[in-house]
Amino acid sequence: MEARRGLFLLMIFMMIKGKGEAQLMEIFYSSSSPGVEAIVKQAVSAKFSQKFTTIPATLRLFFHDCFVMGCDASIMVSSPNGDAEKDAPDNLSLAGDGFDTIVKAKEAVEAQCPNAVSCADIMAIVSRDVAVLAGGPSFSVELGRRDGLISQSSLVAGNLPEPHLTLAQLDTIFAKNNLSQIDTIALSGAHTVGFSHCNRFANRLYSFSPSSPVDPSLDPNYAKQLMNACPQNVDPSIALNMDPTTPQIFDNGMFTSDEVLCNDPASKPTVTDFANSPGDFNAAFITTMRKLGRAGVKTGNQGGIRIDCTNLD
Ligand SMILES: *[C@@H]1O[C@H](CO)[C@@H](O)[C@H](O)[C@H]1NC(C)=O
Ligand SMILES: *[C@@H]1O[C@H](CO)[C@@H](O)[C@H](O)[C@H]1NC(C)=O
Repeated sequence: MEARRGLFLLMIFMMIKGKGEAQLMEIFYSSSSPGVEAIVKQAVSAKFSQKFTTIPATLRLFFHDCFVMGCDASIMVSSPNGDAEKDAPDNLSLAGDGFDTIVKAKEAVEAQCPNAVSCADIMAIVSRDVAVLAGGPSFSVELGRRDGLISQSSLVAGNLPEPHLTLAQLDTIFAKNNLSQIDTIALSGAHTVGFSHCNRFANRLYSFSPSSPVDPSLDPNYAKQLMNACPQNVDPSIALNMDPTTPQIFDNGMFTSDEVLCNDPASKPTVTDFANSPGDFNAAFITTMRKLGRAGVKTGNQGGIRIDCTNLD
């Protein structure tokens, strides 16, 4: 009886879902390329061991991609004419390390599962992996995105949050991507309150190797900033601003003005809650990342699968 009822509900569900509209799902590659997440993780770890900026650069790249024409890896495309999405003034100086991480992960995946995994899905997996490397929570990534076939700088304007927006303006831009104010705060919080705790990389600043206490792959100026933010033998839970280009500033990049979020009475209680309760923040961050990863996705037979993420042909 129960089984028949289950079957009936499943049929109703499939009728509603029907119409060939494909959905994202965590098991999307489990038969075609079961190793994809392990391959990506390995590539991300390798890149991270060379460059700390891998973390903020990649998160920011994913965010920008999703907010312009959906999470379809169109931000990755290079244009000989300088008019691709990544060339728009609003790209807010996306760091090359973000691009490089995606390219390397995709190359590693292509070597083992050719022509099966979209760049858009690689971006989503990489974003989860860097969040974990930064001390954030892990979560399952929904997959099955297809890559966009268009990348134009003219489509960027107005879609990304800019510094100095009011809370209402921020809400509007995020709402276009089905994200709430809490999601906005969770994404912003990833920068400051969320993760990136000093003890995660103190060894790279103070005890990397006997001959070189500071990890030589770190830019010396950046290493100095990190040391100031994370003095030796101090409370290991001190959170650190992950953005090396704009220390102490929350905006400019993935995140927009934190001042608005911290000061507006409407958003302030959530900011305070996230700052005081890592559990609340982590739960919200997971929900938000999964929602962000659904923004404007192409699935089924829409879009395509790019072999070289930077090339539309
Ligand atoms: C971002 O835009 C600036 C100014 O338009 C440009 O100089 C820069 O090369 C772009 N960055 C990337 C990574 O494409
Ligand atoms: C927001 O959600 C609605 C309803 O599920 C969906 O039709 C729309 O495509 C979504 N928008 C984006 C940008 O994902």
